Amino acid sequence: EKAGYSHFMQKEIHEQPRAIIDTIRGKFSLEQGTIGGELLEGIQHRIKDFNRIVIVACGTSWHAGLIGKFYIEKFAKIPVEVDIASEFRYRDLVIDDKTLFVAITQSGETADTLSAMRIAKKMGAAVAAVCNVVGSSVSREADSTVYTHAGPEIGVASTKAFTTQVASLFLFALQLAQTKKTMTPDQIRHYLKELVRVPEVIEKTLKHEDYILSLAKKFKDAKDFLYLGRNVNYPIALEGALKLKEISYIHAEGYPAGEMKHGPIALIDENLPVFIICPQSSVYEKIASNVQEVKSRDGIVLAVVTEGDTGLDALADHKIEIPAIAEELSVFPAVVVTQIFSYYVASLLGLDVDQPRNLAKSVTVE
Ligand code: M6R
Repeated sequence: EKAGYSHFMQKEIHEQPRAIIDTIRGKFSLEQGTIGGELLEGIQHRIKDFNRIVIVACGTSWHAGLIGKFYIEKFAKIPVEVDIASEFRYRDLVIDDKTLFVAITQSGETADTLSAMRIAKKMGAAVAAVCNVVGSSVSREADSTVYTHAGPEIGVASTKAFTTQVASLFLFALQLAQTKKTMTPDQIRHYLKELVRVPEVIEKTLKHEDYILSLAKKFKDAKDFLYLGRNVNYPIALEGALKLKEISYIHAEGYPAGEMKHGPIALIDENLPVFIICPQSSVYEKIASNVQEVKSRDGIVLAVVTEGDTGLDALADHKIEIPAIAEELSVFPAVVVTQIFSYYVASLLGLDVDQPRNLAKSVTVE
């Protein structure tokens, strides 16, 4: 059932182009620049009343939520808060019937996320879910569920569930924008055209697998890693670090690159590999200066850059290229690079990639 791959995680990494096609299929018309389908079913009639969106999740799904915030605020101009379910649950909340609550969960069974959703519902919020499992507790209790069609995810480390969540949130944000008329059909069409390129962009990124394996060989004995990103790729820094921690047991920190000088910069020395996610974007110059800061303290820079970009050649010790795509969607190839890297580090270390110690696929206790 691993279809020739050594581990489920590797198989699931490679399934991502297909999973994304399945997730976005039938939900939009490229010709008309419109989004439709199941996305807002069940909450459509309340959309004009929402003055705020609260996204709640755990782990990797929380990282998808952080990206969703960028999409919704940029496209639909609705303020978004993103919270960790176990924090949301035990706080004095300000929630009412003008709040749209969105739970993101692969399994639909995560105890904290489910409880958070119940609390929000009780307080009058409309509750939507982005979920991978039909018939799961969260999907049964939500007013509206957007299904990610990732197929079963066996590896404990989430890969294709994450990218399909992000693709769903992208469409969700565009549909909100369409309903609220914050974007024209032409603008929506532009982003849809970029979205349909994502599967091919991931395929091309997967072609760098051998190169990324060679980096995993080089760095598998490092004691710590730092992952940096900005803007929409800041959550990818968090996700890259989480993936490395959970399957390779190497300490890793993900940080917004601009925040580095407020603390983590003290960690940098000639032994610290620093993954920097810096595709061409509106914050490219900003992050380039962060690369400079790392290099001037002798950190080892592994830069994820857009194909053909030579701007960081003088500073990067290693450069991993990803295909050009709209900045908002660069998260897809970027996260795939970090997934492959973590996968190879863990498998070179001889660890149980699919069933890492101390972890369960779905955390049904708090
Ligand atoms: O099923 P869920 O999406 O609710 O699970 C949330 C987290 O437990 C999950 O994403 C966890 O962080 C993964 N092991 C990350 O790879």
